[in-house]
Amino acid sequence: MSELKTLKIGLVGCGTVGSSVLTMLNRQRELFRSLDYELILEGVLVRDPLQAREFDYPGATFTNDPHFLEGVDILIEVMGGIERPYQLWKPHLEAGKVLITANKALLAERWEELRPYLEKGQIYFEASVMAGTPIIAAMSTILRASTPVRLEATLNGTCNYILSEMEKGRSYQDALLEAQRLGYAETDPTLDVGGGDSAHKLTLLARMFIDPDYAFERVSVTGIDTLPEGAVQEALERGEKIRLLCTLEREEGRWQAKVAPTRLHRSHPIAKADSNFNALLFTGEECGNMLFMGSGAGGMVTASGIVGDLMCHCDGIPGPRPVSLVR
Ligand code: NAP
Ligand code: HSE
Repeated sequence: MSELKTLKIGLVGCGTVGSSVLTMLNRQRELFRSLDYELILEGVLVRDPLQAREFDYPGATFTNDPHFLEGVDILIEVMGGIERPYQLWKPHLEAGKVLITANKALLAERWEELRPYLEKGQIYFEASVMAGTPIIAAMSTILRASTPVRLEATLNGTCNYILSEMEKGRSYQDALLEAQRLGYAETDPTLDVGGGDSAHKLTLLARMFIDPDYAFERVSVTGIDTLPEGAVQEALERGEKIRLLCTLEREEGRWQAKVAPTRLHRSHPIAKADSNFNALLFTGEECGNMLFMGSGAGGMVTASGIVGDLMCHCDGIPGPRPVSLVR
């Protein structure tokens, strides 16, 4: 048996996702050893180190002092926000180290500064779009061979959950509160219901398969918070479901990205994704229709994407690179 290489990890954030990441890292130790790596958790950065948390990782130490991050090999950021995490990422990336994140807002809005590190494969971000449902991996490898025709998807678990619950008769407010309690919603849930979170994710997808510089500002956004009362039930009576649909398609020769509540026939593959699920239908000229579906929000499924990224790194697979040609 070969000698194990040590990998020092710094975890930033230990809420819904971070606590599940700890539990999964502990659970999969043997798998990392089989890849010749021994994981060493150097510490966990949080706001309040004394807060009670639910996770299974014996000996994890918590702090609100980020200095320990200087000594880590890999940063796993699951804290959220833009400016604060960016300040933590920057010196780490400049030093040539690896970052794994689920932070689609920061990736979508600070892409230009991050491009050199993305090109070098230093940033892994599978969990930032569709949580642990592997769409970034597919978009950055096999699906690239096909000429893109169209993409449509639901990319926000909170909205999907709210709309599905409303179909069962629950009120919008009640369903939103439950989505927050279940850990699906962002700290600021207007990002979910206003469509901003879906727009962040759609921008990242656009950069993975049609244009590496697709600007966040090009996405047209309408949220489910604009739906008139009774719209969900009215759609149901017509055999339809309302979903916060994200689309990427050519309009007058230009790729247009759009997020908007849309009526879909209940037999439409995307309408079949209920609860916190996401669904994505990719159409390529050569590959035809491809459907991806799975949980789009929640602690364990997101942790699965993050820990999967860490395994890719240990296996010598670089982080996903933006598409190299404008399609
Ligand atoms: P969360 O439950 O609110 O957890 C955030 C964590 O970050 C908390 O542990 C908090 O510390 C810590 N934190 C916040 N600000 C900090 C600061 N200034 N300094 C140090 N620590 C700070 O959030 P989450 O739901 O786990 O989401 C985290 C990230 O994953 C976000 O980018 C989100 O968009 C993304 N994401 C979430 C999901 C999901 O289903 N929840 C899915 C995919 C991606 P305290 O605990 O001490 O307050
Ligand atoms: N708030 C996000 C959602 C978390 O509901 O989809 C997953 O990115």
